[in-house]
Formats: sequence, C-alpha cells, structure tokens
Amino acid sequence: MPKKKVLVTGGAGFIGGNFVQYMIHKYPQYDIYNLDSLTYAGDLTKHREIETKKNYHFIKADIADREQIIPLFVQEKFDYVVHFAAESHVDRSITDPEVFIRTNVLGTQVLLDASKHIGVTKFVHVSTDEVYGELDFDPTTFFTEETPIQPNSPYSASKASSDLLVRAYHETYELPVNITRCSNNYGPYHFPEKLIPLTISRILNDQKVPVYGDGKNIRDWLHVIDHCTAIDLVMHEGINGEVYNVGGHNEQTNLEVVKTIIRALGKSDDLIEFVKDRLGHDKRYAIDPTKLEKLGWKPTYTFETGIDQTIQWYLDNKEWWEHIISGEYQSYFEKQYSI
Ligand code: NAD
Ligand code: TYD
Repeated sequence: MPKKKVLVTGGAGFIGGNFVQYMIHKYPQYDIYNLDSLTYAGDLTKHREIETKKNYHFIKADIADREQIIPLFVQEKFDYVVHFAAESHVDRSITDPEVFIRTNVLGTQVLLDASKHIGVTKFVHVSTDEVYGELDFDPTTFFTEETPIQPNSPYSASKASSDLLVRAYHETYELPVNITRCSNNYGPYHFPEKLIPLTISRILNDQKVPVYGDGKNIRDWLHVIDHCTAIDLVMHEGINGEVYNVGGHNEQTNLEVVKTIIRALGKSDDLIEFVKDRLGHDKRYAIDPTKLEKLGWKPTYTFETGIDQTIQWYLDNKEWWEHIISGEYQSYFEKQYSI
C-alpha cells in the first residue's frame, strides 16, 4: 500500500516544527511534507536530526501563492493537510496587519481550494482561542466551542476570518475539515519574541524583562507536545466539520510566569520592568477542553513540569536561540520596546 502523505504547513516554525518531529517518529509509515516559506519565524536548523530521514521532505513555498500551491497539490496528492503556517505574533499584527491578512486569510483560502481540488482525506486548521476575544477575571468562566467569535487584535481577526472560511468549505463543498483552537503554547523552539522564551533568554543574559501593563493579564499555558497529541487525535478521529478547543487548565498571570522563571534561574525580581501596555490587550484566556477530552485527549504536562522542562531546554540549547536573537530580532526588539 502506498504511504499516506501528510502535508504540514509552517513546519519550520515553533508548533509546526514540533509536530513534524513528533509525526516523523510516531508514524514511520507516513511521508511528512514540511511546507514553509521561511519567514523570520521559520528555521530549518531545528530539523537537523530528521532531515536525512526517508519519510521527511521539505518544500519551500508560500501558501498564498496559488500558482505554486495548486500544481503542487495536483502533483503530490496529499492525503492529510495540517495547517499551521501563519503570522502568529499579536504585537507584530498591531504594527503591521497587512501581512496577517495575506498569509492567514488568503493563504488559508488557497490551501482550501487546493485541498478541495484533489479531495483530501482531512484538512486540520490550527487556530487559536484568541478568536473568542477575552474573558473577564471570573475564574469560573471558560471558552467553549460555542463561545461567540469576537476577536480583538488584527492577528486574532485574521485567524477568525480563516476559521470562517474553513467552516464554509465544509458547509458548502463538504470538505472534511476540523478546526482546533488552542491556548498559549510553550516549549522547545518557541521563538524568543513571545513571553516565555523572551523571559528565559533575557534573564539568562541578565537583561530586564518587559511586562506589559500591571502584569495581571491571564493566559492558559499548554505544553507544545500536548498540543501535538491533540492534533494527532483530531486528525485521525475528529468528526468532520467539528471545532475542538485545546487547553489544559494552566492559568497564570503574566507576572506569575515571569516570577516562576526568575526563581527557577536563581535571579532577582529587580529584572522585571513594567512597560506601556499592549493596545487592546486581552485580559484573560481560559479553555474548557471537555469536548476534546471526550474524544480521548489527556495532557501530560502541568505548568510546573512543563516550565521546568522548557527552562532546561533553553539552557541546553543556547546556540539555537542566541543565533536567533542576534539577527533581525535585534531591530524588532528595539522598535517594539522603544529602546
Ligand atoms: P510561528 O510564527 O512560530 O511559525 C509560523 C511558521 O509559518 C514559520 O515557520 C513561517 O516561516 C511560516 N509561514 C509564515 N507565513 C508563511 C507563508 N505565507 N507561507 C508558508 N509558510 C509561512 O507560529 P507558531 O507559534 O508555531 O503557530 C503555529 C500556528 O498555531 C499558527 O497558525 C498560530 O495561529 C497557531 N497557534 C499558536 C499558538 C501559540 O501559542 N504559539 C497558540 C494557538 C494557536
Ligand atoms: P505572547 O507570548 O505574545 O502571546 P499572546 O499575545 O498570543 O497571548 O504574550 C503572552 C502574554 O504576555 C500577553 O498577555 C502579553 C504579555 N507580554 C508581556 O507582558 N511582555 C512581553 O514582552 C510580551 C511579548 C508579552
């Protein structure tokens, strides 16, 4: 029997990269195609250990380039599409929203057209809980799959738009789709513009950590490997057309996260610097994962075990993140934090 072909878009990024490695090891009977245009967030050095494997393939392509994508699908006849590729950073979407619309909305539509054209077995669209907007600080309220879509940032608005297109391709053309909406991920290969890797890398360099506003905003943290197992489950067992929320009841204020990392690295709270708040800063995200748990998903990490593992990974892999923060990242950081 020919091997199943799994196309992973954005497989040079943080979550897509972890997913590619997870799939290569778990399913040697699948051919894994990593399609990525290698933006500032894409990096292939993370795949050094798997790039010689027979079931790993890399394709450099832009998901919004129809002329490139449609012939590729016709040629390769992918069975599964797991779609991670996106512009993913809220702060960048506030300063430059346009590329978010091109990649996240138009790019998703091109992939949907290509998938419809060849008739894929499943299209999994990796989305975010940020499409639901924000919750208040009442700890008994959670996002469920029925929560209305009310995005507040250009990033979340672009993701919500793509979610609606994915839904429409299921309703109109019966494309077999699932949408996953995940809380904040953390873990190995997280790009150091996001809170947790930014905090770890700056503390290790004895630099101040910028905390927006009063630091009381809450995020629900999920280890990236628990996200990978959720997508694996949805890809194989998800009911077509359904949305699944992914999260692990690991709510923390930003200040708690930063202080936990400072303590683990034996440094002082003096490194915390409160800076101007993010525009439209969502107060709180928290996921009710009951629907996915009923499908059979169970996370393996608590925030305590996951953050320890992640800090250790950054200590052991300095070369990877030091290389990243030495390039374009420097000018981004100076502009973003007006240093
Ligand atoms: P990331 O920014 O680390 O990686 C994105 C990848 O997409 C990069 O490798 C980049 O080169 C690639 N890419 C960007 N534009 C492209 C284009 N036009 N064509 C092809 N490739 C392109 O992102 P991430 O944090 O790994 O997020 C992956 C997905 O998960 C995104 O869709 C994001 O919205 C979603 N998500 C992320 C989180 C999180 O906490 N990071 C939480 C929930 C959902
Ligand atoms: P981030 O990692 O950018 O993820 P998201 O915006 O998708 O939730 O930010 C997580 C939280 O940390 C968010 O409330 C904003 C806050 N934050 C800071 O306080 N300082 C920073 O330098 C960054 C990047 C984020």
